[in-house]
Amino acid sequence: MQTAIMSLTTSLCALLLLLSSSSAEIFNKSWWNSTVFYQVYPKSFYDSNGDGVGDLNGITLKLQYVKNSGINAIWLSPIFSSPMADGGYDISNFTEIAPIFGTLEDFEKLVMRAHKLGLKVVLDFVPNHTSDQHPWFQKALQGDEKYKEYYIWADGKNKDDKTPPNNWLSLFNIPAWTYVPSLKQWYLHQFGTIQPDLNYSNPEVVEEMRNALKFWLDKGVDGFRVDSAPYIFEDKELRDEPRSYAPDSTPDQYTYLEPIYTADLKPTYELFGSWRKYLDGYADERNLDQKMLVMETYSSLEHTLEYYDYDVLPFNFLFITNVTNSSTATDFKNTIDLWINSVPYGKSNNWVLGNHDRPRVASRFPGRLDQMTMLSMILPGMAVTYNGDEIGMVDDRNISWADTQDPLARIAGKDHYAAISRDPERTPFQWSAEENAGFSTANSTWLPVNPNYKTLNLQAEERSYQSHYKIYKTLAYLHRKEPALIQGSYASFTTNNGTVLDVIRSSDARTVLLLINFEDDISQTVDLSDYNLPAIMKLKVASLGSRSSLKEWVDKKNIYLPEKAALIYTSFNIQ
Ligand code: GLC
Repeated sequence: MQTAIMSLTTSLCALLLLLSSSSAEIFNKSWWNSTVFYQVYPKSFYDSNGDGVGDLNGITLKLQYVKNSGINAIWLSPIFSSPMADGGYDISNFTEIAPIFGTLEDFEKLVMRAHKLGLKVVLDFVPNHTSDQHPWFQKALQGDEKYKEYYIWADGKNKDDKTPPNNWLSLFNIPAWTYVPSLKQWYLHQFGTIQPDLNYSNPEVVEEMRNALKFWLDKGVDGFRVDSAPYIFEDKELRDEPRSYAPDSTPDQYTYLEPIYTADLKPTYELFGSWRKYLDGYADERNLDQKMLVMETYSSLEHTLEYYDYDVLPFNFLFITNVTNSSTATDFKNTIDLWINSVPYGKSNNWVLGNHDRPRVASRFPGRLDQMTMLSMILPGMAVTYNGDEIGMVDDRNISWADTQDPLARIAGKDHYAAISRDPERTPFQWSAEENAGFSTANSTWLPVNPNYKTLNLQAEERSYQSHYKIYKTLAYLHRKEPALIQGSYASFTTNNGTVLDVIRSSDARTVLLLINFEDDISQTVDLSDYNLPAIMKLKVASLGSRSSLKEWVDKKNIYLPEKAALIYTSFNIQ
């Protein structure tokens, strides 16, 4: 009898093992499911040659740091040839490395080193436009018919140089059309005037861009973050867009119009769907892990989710767009549930906290950085971190007009640039208290280093008994290794009259519980005796400053939560 039970247990175990190993295989192929994905902004990461600008060799030198932090994939903002009028999002050659960043050989070394360390490398791909310095556009300007067809041209409404073809606005808050006197026509640019939009109705453009993808795949990259995804195709009839009636928007602002003819058009999705298939074919033929294709989109939820119909992963920006520092526990719960319930069954999920276009997470959520890191790491799916957020870097809002680089800010002008500038979140990484925060040995850096670097820097956080960085690192490992987080169930609810958010992840007998106190000045006691949780749990991570008042073990009936605290408790069997 005992033997029968044992053999039943053994075969059950074997079955479970089989099931878990086959799901592990699936997870391995789409490797990003339980990934900690880290955005490197190359100009500001690490300067290896003392010219004041970060570079590829600098990134390579810091890959060990990345790996040690618990991260397992990086994406690099553009590193391609560019006049750098929009930080490299204005590309003049899609298959060349910008000399300020290094050479192709440096890139190959970076990929080799990253792979050796077990890190995936994803590139930023910018398909919507080129730089106006790209030879294609230069030839177009000279009237070369072939290359003119690479871009979108139209006559002015009154066939003159005064009235553009229609009312479309650029995302940089200027008209979306610029007149070229020698050609007596206007070209379209959904961003800066120096970023002419490519014409994807031209099969040659489609082929050129696919070749560029292949070029980098052949260099061993693990996928692409696709820039400005929604804007690839526009209405062929060039119809005027209707007014949005967005509160406070003025006629020159992008938000003044409803972008129904310039964003989220069907052929855009179809193009990316074809790229997904292309990448799958490429990987399958060579028996490689699947290649990532993740889209940058700030579109409506409905349009964002449409990427899933084409098997393409959209970035989830809801923690950037839908919650603020004054959001309640219920707002957070609703935002999280909205996303989780919207993602189609079985599809990958992700949580982005910040990037080079938005104020830093520690500035958006003062005193609540650890809470945000915890959410991104505890919720199901990939966690996405912008470099510097792991140490809690904050925006430098005092960058002078003279030092301002961001074209969006320059367009806004001297009196208005500060509120809109994206430079504050792009300042150099603060490695140490040394000169230039240990980022560079140059006399001056491309953007000034945030003056708070003497106290806010990685080295100080590594030495400190408790720091944002140490919390980040613990969470990153937990995110990647803990079965309750990799494949566990998710439940969330609010308690204490809607002032505490509770998130439970569990699988088999393993449980991870996250508690966030949304009261800034009041400590609370949470009673979770009615919930399916172990009676006694162990403290795993506590937001900075709250740990000293906490016990290592807690009874679920009586969990003490200091003001503003975010805490993670786990079951015994989680190390
Ligand atoms: C994306 C980039 C942003 C850039 C824009 C134009 O939104 O993230 O930095 O300015 O595209 O390429």
